Amino acid sequence: MYDSGKIITGLIIFLVLITFPTWYNLVQGKASYVPELKIVTKEKECIEPTPYMRANHTELLTLWRESVVREGDRVYVGAGGKKYIMSLQNTCMNCHSNKTEFCDRCHNYSAVTPNCWDCHIAPKEKT
Ligand code: HEC
Ligand code: HEC
Ligand code: HEC
Repeated sequence: MYDSGKIITGLIIFLVLITFPTWYNLVQGKASYVPELKIVTKEKECIEPTPYMRANHTELLTLWRESVVREGDRVYVGAGGKKYIMSLQNTCMNCHSNKTEFCDRCHNYSAVTPNCWDCHIAPKEKT
């Protein structure tokens, strides 16, 4: 018969080894690292809570686009009942007018290149 004690010990060692990079980073405080982002607006809050925005802004923008283009509905009710016009250019980029130091910096870090700016007008920035 197999020695189940040894198998379990072996499994635990194996799991610790393969998950090493994850918990090593957690201990080092690097797991949630994002590049330094500049917020230029005087507003205190985004449309939805920050952690939600960080994780779900792609989905939110897709929802906005579909709502405007397919249903002709341009009003979004955000957290706390605040109303926003669903516009990438006029709403998001009005607060986040420093696209280079905000959107781009994070996207470069994450290696994503949204094609939105092929059509939508990016904010004019001072260099
Ligand atoms: C009324 C101004 C305002 C509007 C409009 C706005 N934001 Fe924000 N956004 C902020 C502020 C202020 C923060 C930082 C909040 C904080 O300090 O936690 C933020 C945070 C974020 C974050 C998280 C940054 C991080 O630290 O991880 C993302 C992503 C983001 N916004 C994207 C968007 C997108 C996309 C839109 C349009 C759908 C948008 N924002 C519209 C003001 C705005
Ligand atoms: C905290 C980091 C961070 C910030 C700040 C940020 N993004 Fe992103 N963005 C990401 C990540 C990571 C992805 C890819 C994963 C995903 O789709 O959620 C992404 C994806 C996207 C996509 C989808 C790209 C695609 O090709 O599918 C769009 C559009 C987008 N971001 C717009 C914006 C805009 C506009 C801003 C500035 C107002 C912004 N993001 C700020 C991290 C960020
Ligand atoms: C091929 C050109 C093109 C590309 C690429 C494109 N869009 Fe659009 N988008 C449009 C047009 C045209 C409209 C309709 C404009 C209107 O009715 O206000 C629109 C509308 C929108 C709207 C609602 C209205 C507004 O003013 O913002 C959102 C939100 C939006 N797009 C987000 C995105 C995002 C996010 C991306 C990138 C992932 C993207 N779009 C890429 C052409 C494009």
